[in-house]
Amino acid sequence: MALKAVQRQTEAVGKMDIREEKTMSQEKVIVLDFGGQYNQLIARRVRECHVYCEVYPHSVSVEEIRQLQPKGIIFTGGPNSAYLEDSPICSKEVLELGVPVLGICYGAQVIAHLLGGSVKTAPTSEYGKTDVHVDPASMLFDGVHADTVCWMSHTDYIETLPQGFSIIGHTPVCPVAAMENTQQKLYATQFHPEVMHTVEGQRMLSNFVYNICGCTGDWKMDSFVDKTIREIREKVGDGKVLCALSGGVDSSVAAVILSKAVGRQLTCVFVDHGLLRKNEGDEVEAVFGPQGPYDLNFIRVNAQERFYQKLSGVTEPETKRKIIGEEFIRVFEEEAKKIGVVDYLVQGTIYPDVIESGLGKSATIKSHHNVGGLPDFVDFKEIVEPLRLLFKDEVRQAGRELGIPEYLVSRQPFPGPGLGIRIIGEVTAEKVKIVQDADAIYREEIANAGLDQSVSQYFAALTNMRSVGVMGDGRTYDYAVALRAVTTTDFMTAECAEIPFGVLQRVMNRIVNEVKGVNRVVYDLSSKPPGTIEFE
Ligand code: XMP
Repeated sequence: MALKAVQRQTEAVGKMDIREEKTMSQEKVIVLDFGGQYNQLIARRVRECHVYCEVYPHSVSVEEIRQLQPKGIIFTGGPNSAYLEDSPICSKEVLELGVPVLGICYGAQVIAHLLGGSVKTAPTSEYGKTDVHVDPASMLFDGVHADTVCWMSHTDYIETLPQGFSIIGHTPVCPVAAMENTQQKLYATQFHPEVMHTVEGQRMLSNFVYNICGCTGDWKMDSFVDKTIREIREKVGDGKVLCALSGGVDSSVAAVILSKAVGRQLTCVFVDHGLLRKNEGDEVEAVFGPQGPYDLNFIRVNAQERFYQKLSGVTEPETKRKIIGEEFIRVFEEEAKKIGVVDYLVQGTIYPDVIESGLGKSATIKSHHNVGGLPDFVDFKEIVEPLRLLFKDEVRQAGRELGIPEYLVSRQPFPGPGLGIRIIGEVTAEKVKIVQDADAIYREEIANAGLDQSVSQYFAALTNMRSVGVMGDGRTYDYAVALRAVTTTDFMTAECAEIPFGVLQRVMNRIVNEVKGVNRVVYDLSSKPPGTIEFE
């Protein structure tokens, strides 16, 4: 199968008209997305209750919903006003399926609007942490304190209830902060239970999926891993499988699942493009190579020189990205050709990619490259995507179940083009060495300070600025290293992380003393937007 066919297949999967048959027998709750920023978060929270959850566009047909046989449906929030003509809405029939529904924020207003209640601009908007009085006698609030802190973010509100509903929550300015129709199993909250700031939100979601939807909680990572291994074994038979291994979390977990399923029928090609973090190539080889614990064929291609040559003299970020991406594919293809015809190609697609390609509407800021990009003329029949149902934290959990070392499983995101986009301007072997050494010191000190789990992503980059400094009694004219650290939940927006000044000073001291060619260290305070997380 060639590239275009694969793209078509991936797109089709993204559009969600193809669903994994294997999940049909599993109890599931579905989320209908009305454009809210927390759609994935809701699904993750539900899965944390051990209930499988998928996200669908709000426009999914009633017939499709029926076929999915969900145990419950959750409507997300969204930026629109339910009473305006062009606003996203679903069919009223969704509320008549007999399946419990929980509407959140805009989703609550959709329920009110569809069933004859009135939704209006609120005289007073509520935003942020808000004291809400709820009725603990409601099944939704079972075990929840009557006065509880919830996260609100709304300018519209439900002014009058639809028939058959009663109020189960209010604030001084929001008469319907929550409502229910127990007979029809319809529930709604004006606040966001999925957000951490809603102190008892997880309890409310758990009440919904267990008490109201009657789920039993059959989504467990160990059984998922076992089941996936069995299914892959069945699907692949005695076929040959090829995997592009980057050493990142997704490709590592995918490779181990495949190795457990089909052993030496799997070949992993690891392209070391010379733009990896310090010692990373050897670390990957130690785990997946012949000395490691896994049964697979491991091929490491040391292509550093080739990449540096292609990048020589190139300074434009997008051009650099394209060169690295294309060269990666060329190297991978060359190796794959040596192996000959393979039956399956492994892809580390994860569930957010599936959602994004189905619901996405984003502009291209950077042409992202994922190691594992699809080769043009590698001959294979089909793609295997063992992780396509999992969120990132679930992939890590699966990795732990599989016994993959923690430093690989909890690895922070690392871009496909690697250090190539953390060196501003031209990439040279000398600059790669500088940024590798500086980054290793930074990572070590962040870990020593116990911050490595609380900061979402942190790294050193090499600016193309050289400046005058003094060392000993001599003049220097060296590079400035930039340190970056961000906290984020979705990597779409990010805040600069508050690294204690003492830690930054220690890192600065070590870098200027231990890394040749650096006489200045700066800390990047930018958030995203307007910055991006990477520099290029
Ligand atoms: P930006 O720089 O766009 O990064 O704010 C957001 C997140 O994406 C990662 N990133 C990439 N990941 N291939 C990847 O697999 C890429 O080409 C790429 N570029 C950026 C970045 O590290 C951050 O986590």
